[in-house]
Amino acid sequence: MTNNFQLDLNNIPKHVAVIMDGNGRWAEKHGKNRLEGHAQGAKAARLAVETAHKLGIKYITLYAFSMENWQRPESEVNGLMSLLTSSIAHQFKDLIENNVRLLTIGDNSYLPENVRKEISNVVNASSSNTGLTVIIALSYSGRHEILSGVKKLLTKFQDQKFDINSLSEEDFSNCLYTAGIPDPELLIRTSGEYRISNFLLWQISYSELYFTNKFWPDFSEEDFRYAIYDYQHRQRRFGKTSNQIDECK
Ligand code: IPE
Ligand code: IPE
Ligand code: MG
Repeated sequence: MTNNFQLDLNNIPKHVAVIMDGNGRWAEKHGKNRLEGHAQGAKAARLAVETAHKLGIKYITLYAFSMENWQRPESEVNGLMSLLTSSIAHQFKDLIENNVRLLTIGDNSYLPENVRKEISNVVNASSSNTGLTVIIALSYSGRHEILSGVKKLLTKFQDQKFDINSLSEEDFSNCLYTAGIPDPELLIRTSGEYRISNFLLWQISYSELYFTNKFWPDFSEEDFRYAIYDYQHRQRRFGKTSNQIDECK
């Protein structure tokens, strides 16, 4: 990464999604236990939210815990849950003062009662905020989300609330957890893994993908800015030719 780059402030993505991966390997590298890695990861998440706020990004979605992550050892799952509640509680005041709105996506029914309560407190208290929207993907699975959208549609269909032939992509998007939120223009994954891990499968159909070898706890403000700089040098063609895109400029 060069240290000398200039961001185009007129081309900041509206929505950035992040797969925050590598906490465990960061811990291992530093001779610490995995939970210490997650604690550092929580700090990096806070920094990413602050950077998003500074840059005027409107939505940031952070993949904090997948449906598949329930299969991890119980001690790690419990540690992650308490880290999550304490860091949300800690940031409550800051989020409100900075006009940040908090949302979660995922299957809440799997979450322990205290985690659900803590989150819904902040979600409710921040619901009318109009600045940055922070979306935490928690107990989240992209396939579950799509399936639950299909179930919602089938129920509406049974109740004869719509005609199947008129069903549009927009109607379907509105049945997902992310209803009303624009698709991410940029998806970042840390830790050198090149996979999506069941994240936002529908929503990232045309997102620009950015991968870095850095472990999540090491992902700095500079790294975030660089990912956006990289995004700004992509040509988003959406199926068209380069010439067609250039002609529209
Ligand atoms: C990401 O870090 C955080 C969660 C999945 C909760 P990991 O815990 O997956 O870290 P690695 O991949 O083992 O290094
Ligand atoms: C993806 O990371 C989920 C989160 C970052 C919360 P994982 O570490 O769970 O992904 P896989 O299992 O390596 O694909
Ligand atoms: Mg991982």
